[in-house]
Amino acid sequence: MIVVERKSDLHQIVAEHKKGGSKIGFVPTMGALHQGHISLVREARAKAGVVVVSVFVNPIQFNDPKDFETYPATISEDKKLLEQNGCDIVFIPSVAEMYPEVPSEQYDFGTMETVMEGACRPGHFNGVAVVVRRLFDLVQPDLAFFGQKDFQQLAIIKRLVSQLGLPIEIISCPTVREQDGLAMSSRNVRLSAEQRESSARISSALRNAVRGAYGATPDAIVANAVKYINQDKNLDVEYIDIVDQESLEKTAGSDLRNSVICAAVFAGNVRLIDNMLFT
Ligand code: PAF
Repeated sequence: MIVVERKSDLHQIVAEHKKGGSKIGFVPTMGALHQGHISLVREARAKAGVVVVSVFVNPIQFNDPKDFETYPATISEDKKLLEQNGCDIVFIPSVAEMYPEVPSEQYDFGTMETVMEGACRPGHFNGVAVVVRRLFDLVQPDLAFFGQKDFQQLAIIKRLVSQLGLPIEIISCPTVREQDGLAMSSRNVRLSAEQRESSARISSALRNAVRGAYGATPDAIVANAVKYINQDKNLDVEYIDIVDQESLEKTAGSDLRNSVICAAVFAGNVRLIDNMLFT
């Protein structure tokens, strides 16, 4: 596995591979890798000739400075895991390398970026779009792999690629869960033992919702899911919404076939997100 820190080196190495006709698979990450990330790397390994992974904690997508400061960093373990799981090139740029000047790009995703995560984390998706676009320009991937756990991010990246007409296939990979159902996340290591145990309730609530146990209308489902989660003193729902899987507009009627239920929940000061599809 080659470790690259400079954009110019990455560009050159990737260009050589592309000249040789290899298909490039790309997995962007912020490090602190877990089995969810590794499932993306394995999928890339299965589908592409060359696998590139980036590890960059992107400061401009954090609206809460504390969240940025406390974001876990495990770079030597990350490198080992990547090597063991078939990564060919890992790109680990510094902030100065990615942003030699203050980035000024502005993207417009309409209401897709103002609902749910966008409403709670203003500017977050512009920050994600800026870094992903820059990484796409450097890596020039044929395929890029994103986890379904960040459902809104995935929908916005698909929109970014179609808005810009980029020749990149976005591959959505299923959420990887702990045994009790908690979606894997780099932030899970910040949960206390008690919060960790309580957090399994989030996926239980979403599973009950998609199985029809909470009623048939979005309002009833959301109210019951919120009630179930908030019954646990360690948890506090920030939002639960049922939206269209593509446009992210709120589902109005009771035809939920193309909908997804998305949640953000605080366990203490750790913010957890999860979602499940109705289909
Ligand atoms: O999902 C993430 O880890 C990040 O948002 C991403 C896509 C790597 C951009 O910084």
